[in-house]
Amino acid sequence: MSDLTELRQSYARGELRRQDLNPDPLVQFQGWLEEALATEQAEPYAVSLATADALGRPSVRTVLLRGADARGLTVYSNYHSHKGRDLADNPQAELLFYWPHLERQVRVYGPVERVGEVESSAYFHKRPRDSQLAAHVSAPQSAPIASRAELEAKFAALEARFAAGQQVPKPDFWGGYQVVPQSYEFWQGRPNRLHDRFEYLRGGEEWRITRLMP
Ligand SMILES: Cc1cc2nc3c(=O)[nH]c(=O)nc-3n(C[C@H](O)[C@H](O)[C@H](O)COP(=O)(O)O)c2cc1C
Repeated sequence: MSDLTELRQSYARGELRRQDLNPDPLVQFQGWLEEALATEQAEPYAVSLATADALGRPSVRTVLLRGADARGLTVYSNYHSHKGRDLADNPQAELLFYWPHLERQVRVYGPVERVGEVESSAYFHKRPRDSQLAAHVSAPQSAPIASRAELEAKFAALEARFAAGQQVPKPDFWGGYQVVPQSYEFWQGRPNRLHDRFEYLRGGEEWRITRLMP
């Protein structure tokens, strides 16, 4: 294996000054996301979602961001999955975006709410039919399955059950989660590890902005 202690990169692609920050972190986030979407990075809307169970045991996985508006940041998943159980017991999470082409990172922390059924259904039906079927196949997401063959047989059985042209219903156990931001952190890599970091903390309707030590 490579000697990881020899691998390092200096970050020099940008800087983040207080006067560059939008007072509204959502606007700041949307601007950075748009810039990330314009880079070569695959799926810059893929985000790490960190949860913890009732005992505080953490777990993290990648999901796709599907919306960011005044209500919160939205992702979709299976409510019975590991993350679903964590969020049922402990409805708070942190999202982490890493945009290496821009040498930027964003963290968003907050309580988590389920997206309403109507909105979840609308998004479910926008997805490709195979993804809709896969959501049904993966009903017990994160549970063990004996083999690939069993998985594919389940998929084939569902394809046969829902005739072509027939709408695939959204499973009850599938839908959105909204992280309602209580804090954001914007990180811009800088030379000599003297990175720029700004935290936004919500206090009522106001956001307080603080520069953090790198
Ligand atoms: C790029 C990428 C995107 C993913 N998007 C989603 C997603 O939007 N929703 C989802 O439930 N899982 C998604 N996954 C799979 C999750 O990372 C994870 O394996 C799965 O949700 C089970 O997680 P859990 O056992 O912690 O609940 C994605 C994985 C990758 C690598």
